[in-house]
Formats: sequence, structure tokens, C-alpha cells
Amino acid sequence: MLDKKINHPLHVKENSKISFSEATLAKAKQIIARYPAGREKSALLPLLHIAQEEFEGYLSADVMDYVASLLNIQPIEVYEVATFYSQYYLEKVGKNVIEICRTGPCAICGGEAIQAYLEKKLAIKTGETTPDGLFTLKAVECLGACGSAPVMQINTEFYEFLTKEKIDSILADLTLKAKEDKPEKSLWKEKFF
Ligand code: FES
Repeated sequence: MLDKKINHPLHVKENSKISFSEATLAKAKQIIARYPAGREKSALLPLLHIAQEEFEGYLSADVMDYVASLLNIQPIEVYEVATFYSQYYLEKVGKNVIEICRTGPCAICGGEAIQAYLEKKLAIKTGETTPDGLFTLKAVECLGACGSAPVMQINTEFYEFLTKEKIDSILADLTLKAKEDKPEKSLWKEKFF
């Protein structure tokens, strides 16, 4: 399946020898085994999270093909899911991915002004990554916390009732943490699965 030629704009071959580390592969097999035979596809979402964490924070076409081969499904079935959910990234992103909610309730509670402030503070447009690779700014649909609008998510953390002052403090904190150069903690492999 991995050697099959696929004519799709997402499909830019980089490294067809991609594979999980031994420890991650064991974790992946453990997750797949939770589902009945023939229903391995049910493990797709967690496997994509793990793959994203393992392979530089994003899902290249090769990585998606590899996940498809593990689940014995067609690559297109992986592309469909990976392109639908905003938690999956198809290109390299910054260390901190800021997802600001742009849906109605957040917008009327100041979300648009917060998004503009983030763009100004980071000196990038929505959809871009800062040159130091520290922050990527994305606008996403409802994060499911409308009662605390305006809301954003950074990696797996939620930030609610946002103000410009809160943004200043959050960005300063994350910048400081990056300078301390602490080893990255595994999020998906250890925390959620
Ligand atoms: S509209 Fe922003 S969290 Fe629901």
C-alpha cells in the first residue's frame, strides 16, 4: 500500500520508510486491540494524535499513509479525517498552536478583537507561524466553551474569558517556558491514551 502511486495534491512523498519507534508502535497496537477485528479503523483518531506527536508535530502524506497501513485502510480514509478536524496539522506548526475561537458567541464577546490583538502581538497573520517557531495562530470554530467566551486553546490547554492583559501574561509565560528549554512532555501517548 505504501508504494502505491497516489495522484493527490496532499500527497508529496518525502520519506516512504516512515515508522513509529518500537515503544510507540507497541502503544499503537495496544490501542488498535481495543476494537473488534475488522473495526481497526475505530483507532484512527488516537493514532493520528500519536503520529502527529511522533513525527514533528504534523501529518505529512507519508505519515498518513503509514497510519493507513497500520489500520489496513486506504490512505484516502485517513486524509478525509485528517483534513476535517482542526486538531490535525498538515504542515509544520510552531511549538505552541494557538486556536482562537471565531464562532458567533465568542465573536460578540470580543473574540475578534482578541484575534486582532494576537496578530499584532505576534506580528503574524492568522494561519502563520512566528519566525522563531514558537507560535502558530489559527482561527477555529466553536471550542465548546461558549459560556466562557472569548476562548482559545493552546495545544491541549484551554484559556477562557480572554482579555488583552490575559493574552500578554499567557504569551509571556509560554515564551519564558520555551527559553527554559524544558524537555517536551508527551501529551497524547502518556496523558490521554
Ligand atoms: S463560540 Fe467560542 S467556544 Fe463556542
